[in-house]
Amino acid sequence: MKTSVLGQHFGLTPSVEDIVRDTIIEDNSEEAFYVVDIQDILRKHKKWLLNMPRVQPYYAIKCNPTPIVLELLSSLGVGFDCASKNEIDAVMNIGVTPNRIIYANPCKTKSFIKHAADVGVDVMTFDNELELLKVRQFHPNAKMVLRIKVDDSHAVCRLGLKFGADIEKVPQLLQTAKNIGVNIIGCSFHVGSGCESADAYTEAIANAKYVFDLGRQLGFKMTFLDIGGGFPGTSVTKVRFEDTAEAVTKALDIHFPAVDELGNESNVTIIAEPGRYYVASAFTLATNIIAKRSVPMEDQTAMMYYLNDGVYGSFNCTIFDHWIVDPIPFPIDGSMDERQTHLTTLWGPTCDSMDCIKRDVVMPEMHIGEWVLFKEMGAYTICAGSEFNGFKMPALLYYVPAYTLQMLQHLPNWGRISAILDIHDNDGDSTAMDVYDVDHSLELISVH
Ligand SMILES: Cc1ncc(COP(=O)(O)O)c(C=O)c1O
Repeated sequence: MKTSVLGQHFGLTPSVEDIVRDTIIEDNSEEAFYVVDIQDILRKHKKWLLNMPRVQPYYAIKCNPTPIVLELLSSLGVGFDCASKNEIDAVMNIGVTPNRIIYANPCKTKSFIKHAADVGVDVMTFDNELELLKVRQFHPNAKMVLRIKVDDSHAVCRLGLKFGADIEKVPQLLQTAKNIGVNIIGCSFHVGSGCESADAYTEAIANAKYVFDLGRQLGFKMTFLDIGGGFPGTSVTKVRFEDTAEAVTKALDIHFPAVDELGNESNVTIIAEPGRYYVASAFTLATNIIAKRSVPMEDQTAMMYYLNDGVYGSFNCTIFDHWIVDPIPFPIDGSMDERQTHLTTLWGPTCDSMDCIKRDVVMPEMHIGEWVLFKEMGAYTICAGSEFNGFKMPALLYYVPAYTLQMLQHLPNWGRISAILDIHDNDGDSTAMDVYDVDHSLELISVH
């Protein structure tokens, strides 16, 4: 399979569906694949900067550590939220400096703390006293950020069960840090992943201000606010990103104003740890029907289709991320209009009956060899997929419009980006040069 599709300034503007269709026809393969819309990731970054200019994004690499995502975001000046030694190494290996990394796992392995100290990653989160003792021993110069528990009841994936100090515990934790000589620089929270309420941030930012006040009373230089992740990344969400950004901006202006009433500029660095926001919508998954079975019922015939990706692969998101996927029948010849519809169950390819992607959805009748599309599959999919039963994760096909390509060529890490995209300079011998029109409205803006 080819690696990249490059758009040219000619002809029609292609949709991702066009790219999928062309790929299926050209490759004549039955293997599942993703189309990664590079422009979508860049657009998200631009949208972030326009809507929340005071908040520096630190991408939560756990969400999708695909090399192209890391390279693109790194080149745009985005920071990184890492949860482990390997995640720290992954971004440092592509040239991210330690001051652009937060080790945002409140419960850390001792040797990982030591590793963070060795490589100069100083900013880390914590939420309990024993963690402070570990940090004092293995990274005495760490700059600690106290993660508090906030209302995560509006989130699809709640995180407060596992992490975050209760607000009542904050005075004691700060005092302990003071007593044992660990430096506290700020506060963090996470409103839960897939947060469906903009107000959740408002309340959490007010709580963070309380932590700042307490910290300052104890003599800590409180200069770091981390408002976590939870920002929506897909088109179908209960709350729009713009509304969340507006609520965040308002709350920051109240509790952490850029300029105080005396005219002094704020010395607080404000960051967030967006994961799904950056990647969810950029990845479209095309799966092939490898087998089919009809199930006679009392009053109708139900259908079962077996796809070549399942819950042990990309669709692990239906379990771990509570994601409800939306199958789109994708005919290559003709349409689906005339076809009879059936109550349908979609299975993954493995031998396990747990491997069920979706039950009882109404779909037109499909045939073996036909394709089913799943849009907005970039968050918490590839990162947690396995090769159980020997089924490989789908290949990635990158869609790069020509204008975007021109911009990418100016990035300092173009060498590595072009290697991932399998684009060869000068000889014009790229993997694919399809003829497409492009969106000229996009500009690259760097955070720094
Ligand atoms: C500490 C931390 N930060 C950020 C994120 C990213 O969250 P989201 O993808 O909802 O933005 C997560 C997700 O679990 C997390 O645990």
